[in-house]
Amino acid sequence: MSRGLLGVVDGERTVEGGGFVVTRPFPTRLIDHFDPFLLLDQMGPVEVPPGQAKGAPNHPHRGFETVTYVLDGAFEHKDSAGNHGRLGPGDVQWMTAGDGIVHDEMPAKEILEKGGRMFGFQLWVNLPRRDKRMRPRYQEIPASRIPTAERDGVKARVIAGESLGAKAVIETRTPITYLHLTLAPGARIEQPIPRSHNAFAWVFGGEARVADRVVKPGQAALLAQDGDSVVVSSETGAEVLLLSGEPLREPVARWGPFVMNTREELVEAVHDYQNGRMGRLPGDL
Ligand code: CO
Repeated sequence: MSRGLLGVVDGERTVEGGGFVVTRPFPTRLIDHFDPFLLLDQMGPVEVPPGQAKGAPNHPHRGFETVTYVLDGAFEHKDSAGNHGRLGPGDVQWMTAGDGIVHDEMPAKEILEKGGRMFGFQLWVNLPRRDKRMRPRYQEIPASRIPTAERDGVKARVIAGESLGAKAVIETRTPITYLHLTLAPGARIEQPIPRSHNAFAWVFGGEARVADRVVKPGQAALLAQDGDSVVVSSETGAEVLLLSGEPLREPVARWGPFVMNTREELVEAVHDYQNGRMGRLPGDL
C-alpha cells in the first residue's frame, strides 16, 4: 500500500550564516523537527554579484550530521580537524559532527571574486544518543560516484538508501533514504520506503504530485506512516528530494548548532566549544 499525506507545508524564507537567504520547511514555529531530520535548507538558486556571495564562517556543531548537496556553484570548507575540501555541482558531503567540530562553509574563491550562480541544500540528520559523542567523520562523494538509475522517465540520484536498483555508497548511522528524483513530463515512480520510517518530499522544480496532492516548488509533502511506498508523479516534469529515515524517538534538546538529548548536555556543549574542546580553525586565536 502506498502512503497518504500528513500535510503539505510551505518553506519559510530565512537568513542564515553570514547573510544568505534559505528556504526551509523545518524547523519553523509550526514544526520543530521531523524525526530523525532536524533541518532542511535550500540555498538559492541565486545569481550572486561579484563580492556579494555569503557563507557560514567559523561555527561549531555537535550531536548530529550535516549533509551538503550542491547543484550549482562551488563551496569550500575547512575545519578544526585539518580537513579542507571543495564541493561542486552534484557533489555531496556527509559530515558526522559527533563529538564536535568547528568549520567554515564558504562560497569558493572565484565565486566570491567574480560572482556566479549558487544552488544547493543542507540537511541535518540527528544522531542517536549512542553516537552523539562519536569521533567526527567525513564522507565526501563527488558527483561521478553518486549512483544514478533511470527508468520510465525518472532519474534517481541515490545519495543514501536505494532506488531503481541503485545503492548508495554513503554509509549512514541509522537507516536513511536520500534521493534526488528528476521526473520527465508524465513520469511516475513508486518508491519503496520501510513502513517504520518518517518520509517527506521537497519539491524544488516543476510541479509534482505526491500521494495524489499537487506540490509546488518550495513546498514539502510530509507523508503519513501508513504504507510501504511513496508515489511521486508529474505532468509538467519536476525536481524532488525524497527523504526517509527511521525515527530515533529520543528527546531532542537543540540550541543553535548543538543538538543533544538534554538541556545539561547543551550547556556542556557550549562550555566545551568555548574552551576549545571542539578544536579551532587554523589561524584562529
Ligand atoms: Co556548519
